[in-house]
Amino acid sequence: MTVQRESAPTPAGTDNQIEVKGLNKRFGAGDGVVALENVDLTVRRGEFVAILGPSGCGKSTLLMITAGLTPPSSGSVVVDGKKVTRPLTEVGIVFQRDLLFDWRTVLGNVMLQADIRGLDRNASREKALQLLETVGLRGFADRRPWELSGGMRQRVALCRALLHDASLLLLDEPFGALDAITRDQINLDLQKIWLATGCTAVMVTHSISEAIFLADRVVVMSPRPGRIAQDVTIDLPRPRTVEMRDTPRFAAYQATLRDAIMH
Ligand SMILES: Nc1ncnc2c1ncn2[C@@H]1O[C@H](COP(=O)(O)OP(=O)(O)OP(=O)(O)O)[C@@H](O)[C@H]1O
Ligand SMILES: [Mg+2]
Repeated sequence: MTVQRESAPTPAGTDNQIEVKGLNKRFGAGDGVVALENVDLTVRRGEFVAILGPSGCGKSTLLMITAGLTPPSSGSVVVDGKKVTRPLTEVGIVFQRDLLFDWRTVLGNVMLQADIRGLDRNASREKALQLLETVGLRGFADRRPWELSGGMRQRVALCRALLHDASLLLLDEPFGALDAITRDQINLDLQKIWLATGCTAVMVTHSISEAIFLADRVVVMSPRPGRIAQDVTIDLPRPRTVEMRDTPRFAAYQATLRDAIMH
């Protein structure tokens, strides 16, 4: 795959892929938990948005509602101009746990996406192998998930989420369990794929530096009930490099976001 763009392709407000308006989510009746309160969020097509926030502030709930996997209590999510009322098909999701199947090979796990969707097997196989190549796993196509490390497994899950050319990638703390060095490498892989495919990405993470490294914008949510507390544009050139994290600009973003999370 080749890098086709240097930065998010569209200027502000011209082409929104996701529009969250006045979103509320309450779990249970009466004294139930208010997970989200009056959340507004707009994500432009092709943008990479990271979501930071304390545990329990509703980040996963927001992703699940966006994907159409959980209904909101009130308010709306519009994706590609259509109100979300059922599970989206044009979406790729990577969960915190990789959900690979041990009885399938690595390639078989990526191909699950094609099997579920009834996509052309030959074309999908080609695409799956190409994706595995991009993340350095082509040589492991015939192995089983239990033969892989945690980082390799997450890469397989990422390939599966990308197989059907989803225009929207939703990532819920996909790399939280990985060591720092593996995480750096997988972040570089993810950036490469995002740059090459032009997809929109929304990623929940607990890592401030991962958020800055990957995102065009970092959204900070407040503790329960979850609200959008800050929306910080990350104006660093693409492709981002590991060395950029040692620059004063990167450190300034870190300070801003740390401050936002504390308040
Ligand atoms: N299916 C559910 N039933 C009842 N309550 C739920 C359900 N899902 C989430 N909640 C509650 O909603 C709140 C937000 O949960 P959510 O999983 O969205 O948080 P989060 O920000 O993703 O947290 P973490 O960073 O720990 O993953 C929590 O108080 C949680 O207990
Ligand atoms: Mg969560």
